[in-house]
Amino acid sequence: ALVTTTEMFKKAYEGGYAIGAFNVNNMEIIQGITEAAGEMKSPVILQVSAGARKYANHAYLIKLVEAALEVNDIPMALHLDHGADFEVCKSCIDGGFSSVMIDGSHHNFADNMELTKKVVDYAHERGVVVEGELGQLAGVEDDVNVAAEDASYTNPDQVEEFVAKTGVDSLAIAIGTSHGAFKFKPGQKPQLRFDILEEIERRLPQFPIVLHGASSVSQEYVKIIKENGGKLEDAIGIPEDMLRQAAKSSVCKINIDSDLRLAFTAGVRQALVADPTAFDPRAYLKVARSNIKELVSHKIKNVLGSDNTL
Ligand code: G3H
Ligand code: 13P
Ligand code: NA
Ligand code: ZN
Repeated sequence: ALVTTTEMFKKAYEGGYAIGAFNVNNMEIIQGITEAAGEMKSPVILQVSAGARKYANHAYLIKLVEAALEVNDIPMALHLDHGADFEVCKSCIDGGFSSVMIDGSHHNFADNMELTKKVVDYAHERGVVVEGELGQLAGVEDDVNVAAEDASYTNPDQVEEFVAKTGVDSLAIAIGTSHGAFKFKPGQKPQLRFDILEEIERRLPQFPIVLHGASSVSQEYVKIIKENGGKLEDAIGIPEDMLRQAAKSSVCKINIDSDLRLAFTAGVRQALVADPTAFDPRAYLKVARSNIKELVSHKIKNVLGSDNTL
């Protein structure tokens, strides 16, 4: 069934695991993710960015998720990723999503709280849950481009007031993850600020925390892409053991998009290079889809720890 994240997060918090939130843009991606979650007996969050709605159209995405639920009836949340303003959140709340993110992280503290509260009030009246964000990730966020040097970690002194005044159901924080496939400079040691996470957990006991920018950038897929005509120098992500450690804490939602893109692209490139005569899209999209499924199964089992929790 299409559900909110409330129950998922409660169980995840208690069980010391996290739910994967995977970005979806088309049928093959939705099929790969939901088949994997079904087989692993795991709940899953399908998230849609403004760019995904522009690409696929809201109506298609809603119907594709309905179809996925018909084939595989597991607890699924349909979530708006990085809602930039009240209007896009309202449109997704009115249009059948069970969860939205209002990303006011680039506003000042007071404006972020005011905007977030407005979305929470509208959403809660309609049974929809809301994710807010405090602190800024490095890298590319939808419409906002945050330079690495401007990235600022979440200030633990602000989290209690933010949650109390806005009424958000979960909180995205910045502790060193970043969006995209180039998270650390060559030679730079990947690092997450677990000390900040612990302090936030202390201030907000039992409260679900969200990690964005949490792809690991599998070097296996990077290699396949490079070997088959792609260019991807210095692509690097968050080591999986760090994410596993985060999943055991108050982190209840881990966002993954770049890893899906890499798995999908590796499949398409590999299939097309292996058979240059192929021009039936099914021939290469089925390889991409099966890579998505394999990747998501791996994440659920080895990184998130949400397998066998239904
Ligand atoms: O955080 C951003 C997500 O990876 C979505 O990316 O806006 O290109 O769809 P997108
Ligand atoms: P990645 O780019 O690390 O996959 O992050 C995705 C994300 O945070 C979507 O909101
Ligand atoms: Na957790
Ligand atoms: Zn994000």
